[in-house]
Amino acid sequence: MTLPSFLLAEVAVEASGARVLITQASYLVSSVFFILGLKSLTRADTARQGMQQAALGMLLAIVGTLIDQRIVEYGWILAGLAVGTVIGWPLGTRVPMTAMPQRIAISHMFGALAATLVGIAEYLHHVNLAEPVGRVQMAALGFEVLFGSLTVTGSFMAFGKLQEFLPGRPITYAGQNVVNIGAMAGAVGLWLYLIVDPSAQWAFWAMTALAFVIGISFVLPIGGADMPVVVSLLNSYAGLAASATGFAIGNTVLIIAGALDGASGFILSIIMSKAMNRSFTNVLFGAFGAAPTASTKSAANLTVKSISAEDAAIQLAYAGKVIVVPGYGMAVAQAQHTVRELAELIEKKGGEVKYAIHPVAGRMPGHMNVLLAEANVPYDRLYDMEEINDEFDSADVALVIGANDVVNPAAKTDKSSPIYGMPILNVDHAKSIIVLKRSMNAGFAGIENELFYDEKTNMLFGDAKASISKLVSEVKTL
Ligand code: TAP
Repeated sequence: MTLPSFLLAEVAVEASGARVLITQASYLVSSVFFILGLKSLTRADTARQGMQQAALGMLLAIVGTLIDQRIVEYGWILAGLAVGTVIGWPLGTRVPMTAMPQRIAISHMFGALAATLVGIAEYLHHVNLAEPVGRVQMAALGFEVLFGSLTVTGSFMAFGKLQEFLPGRPITYAGQNVVNIGAMAGAVGLWLYLIVDPSAQWAFWAMTALAFVIGISFVLPIGGADMPVVVSLLNSYAGLAASATGFAIGNTVLIIAGALDGASGFILSIIMSKAMNRSFTNVLFGAFGAAPTASTKSAANLTVKSISAEDAAIQLAYAGKVIVVPGYGMAVAQAQHTVRELAELIEKKGGEVKYAIHPVAGRMPGHMNVLLAEANVPYDRLYDMEEINDEFDSADVALVIGANDVVNPAAKTDKSSPIYGMPILNVDHAKSIIVLKRSMNAGFAGIENELFYDEKTNMLFGDAKASISKLVSEVKTL
């Protein structure tokens, strides 16, 4: 028996209504999960749970979108899923923690590329139908393509500098700021023109091309050491572009997730600029990192004292207060578990152990916190720079593990240094300093560190994990 056609039509309308409802409900629930995820990410002990909440939110948003009735063909979506998995799986599982900043930069590039392509496709769709884009929609579309395009090239430049296939030093020329600000003003001008006349295709393509160039020219003058702030700022641009995509194509979850991404990336950039004592306005306009010339300080005529593991162990075992300063080298050596073991031994001997965490130690925000949390170091032993800096005066030993730039006194004293002005940990105030690293090589900023030549400093050369293992066995014998 076949149903009459008016009944069939009614069933179809009801089914499509139910699908819309399910999609919208899944968007609502996924937005709640995104917000809960961000909240959980603010504390180290709930951060893992935060990632899971955000991932669940994303899964719900994807499922909700897949049942959208406007999808006419699933073939391309499946192909995208396959390609995305082939690229995303190794990015998530194979890339080491030490390469996380460049991985994040390249992910932003893909995210921004997606937003840009959606914007271009939507514009072309209207062009093909010979149906002009509305002004409000054009405002959102133009914003999406403008910020999306500059984030694509900007993120790729940041990736190149962090991966070191592009020079890390600032690349500058006279009048650069004027050119950059002029280019940005030009692109914004074209965007405004498009809002007035959405049918002006030349303006759309000129704005897109200019935005791609701006991404390159804004990141070029910024030095490699300042890339974390740039990556975080580009993250917020990608978020804003995604949010604008949501407005342009009428997708609520994109609006919400993009706004959350944009706002949190923006706040993180401000916090990091403060931590590195950089002017946020300069970061915003791509002008920082340009001023200082390379440090002229050299280690000629200075001598270094090295220490044996036995002697270093004696100092640590009988110290009343030890402040551990972890850095990038601890991450490379994966020494965090042995560090915890050593700290427990010192505590058993009656000493107090605290960890001083510099906001840009390592290669990503929170890098040291993540590693130490993974090694089950109690959270209450981890102190932010401003909380602990005054305590170095009363520390018997500052144990520097693979840290270099974040303890470099040149940041306070040498105006010609590229890191001048960056707040550093006051390791030089401790009564005695033990530095664990493999050689006299420079850190990320590529500059000499006078701390290593300080009278109070003793160098324990070798891989951090191997050196700490030796210290552990020596302290056990005392
Ligand atoms: P760095 O200044 O990069 O110094 C790390 C030191 O670790 C090096 O001097 C290296 O000396 C030593 N090292 C490397 N492998 C080692 C190993 N297996 N065992 C022992 N030592 C090892 O590190 P930092 O003090 O943590 O400063 C971070 C720098 O990175 C800052 O300039 C910051 O701006 C920049 N940066 C930070 C981020 C974020 S968000 N945290 C992102 C990108 C860049 P040897 O080769 O002699 O061993």
